[in-house]
Amino acid sequence: MHIASVGVSKVGFLFSLVLCGLLLLLIPAFQPTARQVDLPQPRPQVKYSAFTLQNNTGLPTLSDSAGDRERTTGLNISSEEINGTIDTELFGNDDYKETYSEKNSEALSIPEGQGRPGPGSRDLLELKDIFIAVKTTRKYHKSRLELLIQTWISQAKEQTYLFSDGEDKELQTRTGANIINTNCSAAHTRQALCCKMSVEYDKFIESQKKWFCHVDDDNYVILPSLLQLLSSYHHSQDVYLGRPSLDHPIEAAERVKSNGLVSVKFWFATGGAGFCISRGLALKMSPWASLGNFISTAEKIRLPDDCTIGYIIEALLEVMLIHTHLFHSHLENLQKLPTNSVLEQVTLSYGGYENRRNVVKIVGGFSLVEDPTRFKTVHCLLYPDTDWCPKPKSHNGK
Ligand SMILES: *[C@@H]1O[C@H](CO)[C@@H](O)[C@H](O)[C@H]1NC(C)=O
Ligand SMILES: *[C@@H]1O[C@H](CO)[C@@H](O)[C@H](O)[C@H]1NC(C)=O
Ligand SMILES: *[C@@H]1O[C@H](CO)[C@@H](O)[C@H](O)[C@H]1NC(C)=O
Ligand SMILES: *[C@@H]1O[C@H](CO)[C@@H](O)[C@H](O)[C@H]1NC(C)=O
Repeated sequence: MHIASVGVSKVGFLFSLVLCGLLLLLIPAFQPTARQVDLPQPRPQVKYSAFTLQNNTGLPTLSDSAGDRERTTGLNISSEEINGTIDTELFGNDDYKETYSEKNSEALSIPEGQGRPGPGSRDLLELKDIFIAVKTTRKYHKSRLELLIQTWISQAKEQTYLFSDGEDKELQTRTGANIINTNCSAAHTRQALCCKMSVEYDKFIESQKKWFCHVDDDNYVILPSLLQLLSSYHHSQDVYLGRPSLDHPIEAAERVKSNGLVSVKFWFATGGAGFCISRGLALKMSPWASLGNFISTAEKIRLPDDCTIGYIIEALLEVMLIHTHLFHSHLENLQKLPTNSVLEQVTLSYGGYENRRNVVKIVGGFSLVEDPTRFKTVHCLLYPDTDWCPKPKSHNGK
């Protein structure tokens, strides 16, 4: 009797083992169909455990990017490790040796495109594959957004999303722009900025697009240059592109073990100049970035939003920032950009109230008074057929 019942439970156990095995075998069978339709479905609600399932090869490697096999790499991350690295007071505020400052952003001399993934695995990329997030705030809807919507956003309306902190039904209906009310605070605090970045990240993952690019509301995006730049990489590679904020990596103390201070150094791309992240890399950031995790990551390390992105990518995922000087923020001397190279840049900016003269030197249809930011002039050089662009005089005779 006793023996028999043990036997039955053994059979039951074996049966469930076989069932589990069958289910495991069936999983790969479903994948090809999903892939043929589109990119793999990101499932942000699946937490980091999803990343440990596939393959224990350790950290992500660039070779995984060949072809369309994104997400096949397993990140060997367990929840213990996550708690171990982040929960243990990685950076105290005072350990942050570098005062966060973008003032040093000039005078960087890092060669263009210095980085691991490079030309060689090109992507047949179209503008619609790029998700562009513009970070803004309610008080700049009139003074800043209108100009962007009139200029570059008009050429990329479908894939550009404006992340703000208030409703603006009027602007939305009049221009057809995608304005997202993040419900984040309008304060210019680290928490509010990180809150917006968190929503940007989630919307990008949801969008299924190949690239995530973040810009500020004082950036002009030169779309043909952006497309050209991103086309030299593949979206399933680990790509993080942008302008370093400082001329050296940030250094912060890391207390992983109880005794001993270990220093962690990482580069980050300054948010004010814009940066781009491939989908492959963005998916790997999920444990620290999706569904509000970005806010808690930033809180733990107590660094601003763009810096937290750099921390997740360089320090946690060990993927290096590809330094590029094609992105520009208002903190640079924009007049130094050679006139003949302006249209080859990826992002431009202009000095704010405190520095109105800091604009790119470019000559075209509008005077400095008519177009103080130079964005309209740039736009008319790029898209001369735009209805509000002055028509060249030489055409009058015809
Ligand atoms: C992990 O994946 C790589 C390539 O994707 C493969 O070569 C390797 O055998 C896999 N390892 C395991 C343990 O499954
Ligand atoms: C990955 O995880 C396995 C099992 O948890 C562990 O034995 C191995 O050392 C880990 N590899 C890396 C690179 O962390
Ligand atoms: C990690 O931390 C969270 C909350 O801080 C806790 O709920 C969870 O049990 C921890 N996991 C491990 C494996 O320690
Ligand atoms: C902000 O709040 C509104 C109203 O509660 C909601 O409809 C909207 O989805 C929220 N936005 C985000 C990004 O969660």
